[in-house]
Amino acid sequence: MKTDHSDTERMPHPAAATRMRAMVHHRYGPPSVLQASDVPRPEPRRGEVLVRLEAASVHSGDLYVMAGDPYLVRLAFGLRRPRNGIPARDLAGVVAAVGADVTDLKPGGDVFGWSTAGTLAEYACVPVGNLVRRPTTVSAVEAAVTPMSGLTALQAMRDVARVRPGDRVLITGASGGVGSFAVQIAKAMGAEVTAVCSGRNIELVRSIGADHVIDYTTTDFTANGERYDVILDSVEAEPLASVRRALTPTGTVIPNSGRGGRWVGPLGRIITARMRSIFTRQRLAPFVSVEKHEDLVALSDLLASGQVTPLIDRTYPLAEAADALRYVATGHARGKVAITI
Ligand SMILES: NC(=O)c1ccc[n+]([C@@H]2O[C@H](COP(=O)([O-])OP(=O)(O)OC[C@H]3O[C@@H](n4cnc5c(N)ncnc54)[C@H](OP(=O)(O)O)[C@@H]3O)[C@@H](O)[C@H]2O)c1
Repeated sequence: MKTDHSDTERMPHPAAATRMRAMVHHRYGPPSVLQASDVPRPEPRRGEVLVRLEAASVHSGDLYVMAGDPYLVRLAFGLRRPRNGIPARDLAGVVAAVGADVTDLKPGGDVFGWSTAGTLAEYACVPVGNLVRRPTTVSAVEAAVTPMSGLTALQAMRDVARVRPGDRVLITGASGGVGSFAVQIAKAMGAEVTAVCSGRNIELVRSIGADHVIDYTTTDFTANGERYDVILDSVEAEPLASVRRALTPTGTVIPNSGRGGRWVGPLGRIITARMRSIFTRQRLAPFVSVEKHEDLVALSDLLASGQVTPLIDRTYPLAEAADALRYVATGHARGKVAITI
């Protein structure tokens, strides 16, 4: 007798619905340690949302976490080897299911935000407070590149530098992930913005609102006689003492390159700068950004109003996430690097 397999062939294997594709690293190292894997799909617990990802993004912080460098990050992510191993935090996608007590979001809704359990995967379970609805005018990729760099830029400009209308703000790395958000947020706050970038990016930073541009390959901003109320220095190519010469007597400099020693990373430099700050009227204010729901809402509002438009350089499919991370590692991305899922 001939057996008809057509129905059973169409049916997904019962286990298939509980698995997902993800990029995973089982040891600390460079992007080459990432492997395409089939892993259990997470289930939303109380207060959590299961998001089916449409897009994610990668930035320099993901490289530090993947490398377990500085060692301090291993306290959070696993001492000998990564506990979870799915990199990245930024995400945008569709609500697939909600856990108990989640009333704000419903299955089918478009959301974006962050996950501490990794986002280079088809699904992520996320506490509801890490998500906001995606504005209808903003694409999934635009939303996915926003959280980490956007929160850093927002908190640097608003909370650390306390930018006021008319302030003269200088931003190094203005063509990068954090810098491209910082230029637009400082403009939205009424500042007069000077962007420091290379010649090939001059038009790019003007297109996102920079009032003045300094080409770092030909001009040293610390030695041209100009003074700024705020300097966000995401590159730290010049010594802090030189950068302070470009600051007004009561100005604020935010050293933000993330560089530091093998053990505690930038922490030692953050403490040193804070101590030196006690002896000067200038504020030396390195900081670590904090993931806050209300700031994600603020970013979402800036996107919805059109005051901020994410600058997207390249988009890679999930399977090529290692290439995306390698590109970020060059330090020459123009805006953000997205992953589509
Ligand atoms: N405080 C925090 O909590 C926090 C959070 C996130 C990130 N960060 C730090 O923020 C920094 C920036 O991150 P990111 O993601 O924005 O980096 P990124 O996107 O990799 O920055 C790349 C950009 O920097 C530009 N650049 C390189 N050298 C430059 C120089 N000497 N002067 C001016 N621009 C230069 C490059 O332009 P060219 O190609 O033209 O050189 C490129 O467009 C990182 O060091 C990261 O560790 C801090």
